[in-house]
Amino acid sequence: MVRDFTNQPLLPEQARSLIKLARLAPRAGNTEGVRYSLLEDENVTAYWDITLSGNKREIFPWPGLLNAPTLIIVWVSPESYVQRYGENDKKSTGLGKGESEWTTPYWWVDGGMAAMSILLAAESQNLGSLFFGIFDHEARVKSEYGIPEEYKAIGTIALGHPAKQQRPSKSTKRDRATLDELIFDT
Ligand SMILES: Cc1cc2nc3c(=O)[nH]c(=O)nc-3n(C[C@H](O)[C@H](O)[C@H](O)COP(=O)(O)O)c2cc1C
Repeated sequence: MVRDFTNQPLLPEQARSLIKLARLAPRAGNTEGVRYSLLEDENVTAYWDITLSGNKREIFPWPGLLNAPTLIIVWVSPESYVQRYGENDKKSTGLGKGESEWTTPYWWVDGGMAAMSILLAAESQNLGSLFFGIFDHEARVKSEYGIPEEYKAIGTIALGHPAKQQRPSKSTKRDRATLDELIFDT
């Protein structure tokens, strides 16, 4: 992940091309339940004004993150999954009865797949990216960009060109498990 960006903008249509690739990500039941906010210019400024205001911005350890010219927010609609799984070909799963029926809520799975597709596509175009949380700012962010009530946030992806110096996050220091540790013995 990249947390320090230069001011260089993306190419025209480049951010849309990343979302175009994410359209092809796997989605449960081919439900069309994932949406995106594509933020540039004053919409990026508004995002940081909401999520990093006043004193919090002064002490924020990654000021270079705010240089990212483009932000993409990934949204999902749980309702559309419930509706889709109530249709004839999926009815027998029982998942059309309501969100509480879902042991694995596929809206989170699909949203993660869509977000990962954008991260991979960005990497393949030599862009830097960071996936990060919206936390308790979700309601205000939704209201700022006119997102319909039923949508829930997966998170935000900052996109741009990496600065030469990167300040890693503390959690980056944690080692990755070995391959053998990751695969359960059977
Ligand atoms: C669900 C999720 C939430 C994350 N939230 C944040 C976040 O709020 N802030 C942040 O700086 N990084 C966030 N990250 C990025 C992780 O910290 C990052 O993947 C990790 O540091 C590994 O970085 P690397 O890919 O550069 O090794 C998040 C990643 C995921 C998958």
